[in-house]
Amino acid sequence: MSKTIESLLVEKRVFKPSREFSKAARIGSMAEYRKIYEASIRNPEKFWAAEASELVWQKRWSKVLDWKAPFAKWFVGGKINASENCLDRHLSGPRRNKAALIWEGEPGERRTLTFHQLHREVCVFANILKRNGAKKGDRVLIYLPMIPEAVVAMLACARIGAVHTVVFAGFSSDSIRDRIQDSGATLVVTADGGYRRGQVVTLKQNVDQALEGARGVKKVIVFRRTNQDIHIKPGRDVWWHREAEYVTADCPAEPLDSEHPLFILYTSGSTGKPKGILHTTGGYLTSCYATSKYIFDLREEDVFWCTADVGWVTGHSYVTYGPLAAGATCMMYEGAPNWPQPDRFWKIIADYGVTILYTAPTAIRAFIKWGKEWPAKHDLSSLRLLGSVGEPINPEAWIWYHETIGGGRCPIVDTWWQTETGVIMISPFPGATPLKPGSATLPFFGVDAAIVDDHGREVGADQGGKLIIRKPWPGMLRTIYGDKARYRKQYWGEFKGVYVAGDGARRDKDGYFWVVGRIDDVLNVAGHRLGTAEVESALVSHETVAEAAVVGRPDELKGQAVVAFVTLREGAKASKELADKLRKHVGTVIGPIAKPDDIRFAEALPKTRSGKIMRRLLKQIVEGANITGDTTTLEDFRVLAELRSRDD
Ligand code: PRX
Repeated sequence: MSKTIESLLVEKRVFKPSREFSKAARIGSMAEYRKIYEASIRNPEKFWAAEASELVWQKRWSKVLDWKAPFAKWFVGGKINASENCLDRHLSGPRRNKAALIWEGEPGERRTLTFHQLHREVCVFANILKRNGAKKGDRVLIYLPMIPEAVVAMLACARIGAVHTVVFAGFSSDSIRDRIQDSGATLVVTADGGYRRGQVVTLKQNVDQALEGARGVKKVIVFRRTNQDIHIKPGRDVWWHREAEYVTADCPAEPLDSEHPLFILYTSGSTGKPKGILHTTGGYLTSCYATSKYIFDLREEDVFWCTADVGWVTGHSYVTYGPLAAGATCMMYEGAPNWPQPDRFWKIIADYGVTILYTAPTAIRAFIKWGKEWPAKHDLSSLRLLGSVGEPINPEAWIWYHETIGGGRCPIVDTWWQTETGVIMISPFPGATPLKPGSATLPFFGVDAAIVDDHGREVGADQGGKLIIRKPWPGMLRTIYGDKARYRKQYWGEFKGVYVAGDGARRDKDGYFWVVGRIDDVLNVAGHRLGTAEVESALVSHETVAEAAVVGRPDELKGQAVVAFVTLREGAKASKELADKLRKHVGTVIGPIAKPDDIRFAEALPKTRSGKIMRRLLKQIVEGANITGDTTTLEDFRVLAELRSRDD
């Protein structure tokens, strides 16, 4: 039986950056990319040291890398502060009065904070943290809506050396409690509430519930956002605005060891129990800065909008640390993309002249479903670059994004990375790389990525296998908080000294990477191992399909039969005829082997709160099994109930 993953979907379209774009870009040709890439792989330490030198260090490192696999120390002996690099270093020049954050609340309020103003807010809040007992090394749990205070709280922790653990405001009290217990947080920062799809969310109430039965939290600092009634527990809970009256805006940035922990972020992906991914200061910041600068090719006049919530790693690296370290202006929006109408994003882009939009395939597929008329209402001509992250982007969704949002003129950076990698690892350079829809293209500088078989041998062009990274990089996770053994086993246990990402992928003859899905999701049909992403992309390329999720069902004859869950675009109707058409369509696009045996139409698919399809749950449904394992990250339980009732 074949050990590698077969890859049958062939995408032939190629899009080159315009001459104009290339000319203005930092990396303007493939020759330049290759030259720097090859040098960075021959001597990664030299490359990273040069990038790190562009940041402010309170004390320079004595050694770039200390690597005792799988444990890395970067910029050994160096002292640095992330908040100083995101703020103070911009204050002495023309960026002082440049917008750092432009924010819009869901109900419509607008706020702009210049670097000077943001610095001031961060210093005030850092002093509030200190006043409430937070010290260097303490863990602070942040549970806030997408408001500037979320960024302020993160940077204030970084300023005093407290370790933040941000919990997405859509998570429940159980999730907060688990994370408090695992991280040992002593302080919680929250708000009375937030706004989502016109509703007021009860954040403080969730924290109160989480703290029943959780020990160790001494103080809760509450920001007033919605002005709703909340319970204030005397001695424990304090108001942010009241505390601000007692402190000054003078708070020097604490000199921190390069390996001082910056944050813990819990991730479960789509399977398993959440793990606390630990990132440290100097290396992470260097990687955030370098990737932001080269991949988004940031310019002083850009308005950069990463739509991710700060509760995800994308919000850590590309709302907060990367763009601010690079002195960029970031757009931030609190609410839902379809509130009050499905054109909210497009209105924001037009209103603020957003130049770079970085979002997720799940959002793009929703936009496609809602229809072209919504973006058509607004002037999107300020956009010059688009980005995608979080899942493989189906080629048809890519084309739609390119044409309908990017007006055919904006390159798309499809960026592959993970909470664990901290920063973008595989991505186009927008002024250099010819783009192929659906491919994250080529590795970033210093990233030694490859595809191997089950024995760790590199496979040839167009053969599928496991995506690995062969050298340490500064932004890599340092451990799973409190569980070194799990860290070692999960990421470095399979091949010695090699990071295994858990994704299946292939490289084509040009060396481009195509991620075909999580290894756990790979299908095995009559001895052929197929990635879920390809079958799903084939379905999505049909004009009636909005979204698809493919899983295997045990089959006596074939090993696994292919079952596809499909949601339709607005206006399309589910029928047996359509199911037959879709099966045929997949047969034509990929080949008969990939034809779904069973197509089930659904209103919605089970997703994590960050928008990833939870194939594990769909698999349990088609197997008729009970839903087991961790479901705390599931976005909407009704979706599951609905799918199950159809199955009975
Ligand atoms: O399977 C890959 C998929 O998302 C996983 C990482 O998820 P998470 O830790 O939540 O981080 C998301 C934000 C970086 C990866 O293992 N993934 C992410 N980006 C891409 C992707 N798959 C294909 N193409 C991408 N661009």
